[in-house]
Amino acid sequence: MFYKVKSMGLTGLNAFPVTAEIEGSSELPDFQIIGLADAAVRECRERLKSAFRTTGLNFPEQRVVVNLAPADVRKTGTVHDLAIAAALCMVQGWIKKSAVENAAFIGEVSLGGEIRAVRGVLPMTILAQKLGCSEIFVPADNAAEASVVSGIKVYGVPDLRTLVAHFYFKKKITPQPEYQPDFEQAADGCDFCDIKGQELAKRALEVAAAGGHNALLIGPPGSGKSMLAKALPSILPRMTFDEAISATNVYSVAGEIDPEHPLITSRPFRAPHHTVSTAGLSGGGTIPRPGEISLAHNGVLFLDELPEFSRNALEILRQPLEDGKVTISRAAGTVTYPSSVMLLAAMNPCPCGYYGHPTRKCTCGAKKVENYLSRISGPLLDRLDIHCEAAAVEFSDLASKEKAEPSSAIRERVQAARDIQNRRFAGTDITCNAKITPDMMSEVCVMTNDAKDALKTVFEAFGLSARAYDKILKVARTAADLENSELIEDRHIIEAAGYRTLDRKYWAT
Ligand SMILES: Nc1ncnc2c1ncn2[C@@H]1O[C@H](COP(=O)(O)OP(=O)(O)OP(=O)(O)O)[C@@H](O)[C@H]1O
Ligand SMILES: [Mg+2]
Repeated sequence: MFYKVKSMGLTGLNAFPVTAEIEGSSELPDFQIIGLADAAVRECRERLKSAFRTTGLNFPEQRVVVNLAPADVRKTGTVHDLAIAAALCMVQGWIKKSAVENAAFIGEVSLGGEIRAVRGVLPMTILAQKLGCSEIFVPADNAAEASVVSGIKVYGVPDLRTLVAHFYFKKKITPQPEYQPDFEQAADGCDFCDIKGQELAKRALEVAAAGGHNALLIGPPGSGKSMLAKALPSILPRMTFDEAISATNVYSVAGEIDPEHPLITSRPFRAPHHTVSTAGLSGGGTIPRPGEISLAHNGVLFLDELPEFSRNALEILRQPLEDGKVTISRAAGTVTYPSSVMLLAAMNPCPCGYYGHPTRKCTCGAKKVENYLSRISGPLLDRLDIHCEAAAVEFSDLASKEKAEPSSAIRERVQAARDIQNRRFAGTDITCNAKITPDMMSEVCVMTNDAKDALKTVFEAFGLSARAYDKILKVARTAADLENSELIEDRHIIEAAGYRTLDRKYWAT
């Protein structure tokens, strides 16, 4: 007797189909699993024997061989347990062949017969649906996560007994209702109206949020840099469905899905502490896991007190920031995680914090200031499109009772500019102006003659790098989008170039 059950495997974020083929023959009882299975998969023999025993189900009294096909791809972890259990039930005659033809099974089986949650259910369910499965059986704790995918019936299985009852006794498991995402969730945290003064920094963050540009806030202690950063989520544009799925995939693989909100619909905001390790920031580990930069995919990675991060950790960020993905190589293979983020960094200009302050004297020597600033390398600085000074707040601003503009009003403008970008980049992989690829630059960033002249002057006066040139153009594109202007005008170029002057003030020496 020969049966087949569909399962799914995972490398990095990529799911791949696996078929558990089973053959039972009337030889001396034995149970083998073959097909490039690692130790965790082979241990499934003991888990399943014990699970059948403790649940009061008879284990096949035959020689049973399970092959996990394709046999040339390495299978890891415990995710195939449920498919193998279903195959054993077929050998016992409890599940009919026709009943599982269009079904996939994923989940870990415990010694007691419970079905335990596994990682990566979302990408695996998406693949099952694409491959034409009409049903998927997943651990009950993962059911909400799988229900994000439409066009496939999701059954959350709590234990082995319920699975057998579903097929054999027709005591059907209630399918998980399809999850209806809410993209209008309000961000909690700080509101821009509570921040006094800082008009320039607020405008800079508005432009950064609208186009997804990396930004750096620099200023003395207590000027509101951390406060501005905390308020940023309240003005970020809504995620598109594709962006939400792509961000949720990362959390699914990291095993960090909240069953109450299985689809991530507000942009992630990750703020790792400066003691974070390089692996924690970019991903890694013996069993590779996504790092903070991938958990911030399609959202914001906020690095407060930037110079305090280890130089190594920062330098490793350079490539993922540019490419929008991180590749991690391990003995077992290579995995790639997405890392398309908006980087926001905040820092003081020197150890005491008052270098360049209009009224207070900086107590650090020139050498100390230079050492401090040199912790941020030139190439990293070049990747920060918008540099903005969060100057000390004036007394008159602080004492004023007037509320500043609320986040909701700023968010409306940001959203309108992002809607223009979504239309512009429809059908491409580009999500916002910051991610415009070099081949699209000339098509998308069309300037008036005055703007061209302005850019030429800036380029020559500042001695800009080619990257800085592109970045100024992209930021100018966003400034134009915020005004719903088709062409980039000279005032947009001047604003964008203004965001590149601070490196000259602080890093020029
Ligand atoms: N612009 C502002 N408007 C209103 N309150 C402010 C402002 N700036 C600072 N504050 C007050 O000061 C506190 C500290 O601000 P915040 O932590 O943002 O400063 P910072 O610039 O990050 O300082 P540091 O460089 O020391 O990290 C805030 O919690 C807030 O109470
Ligand atoms: Mg701070």
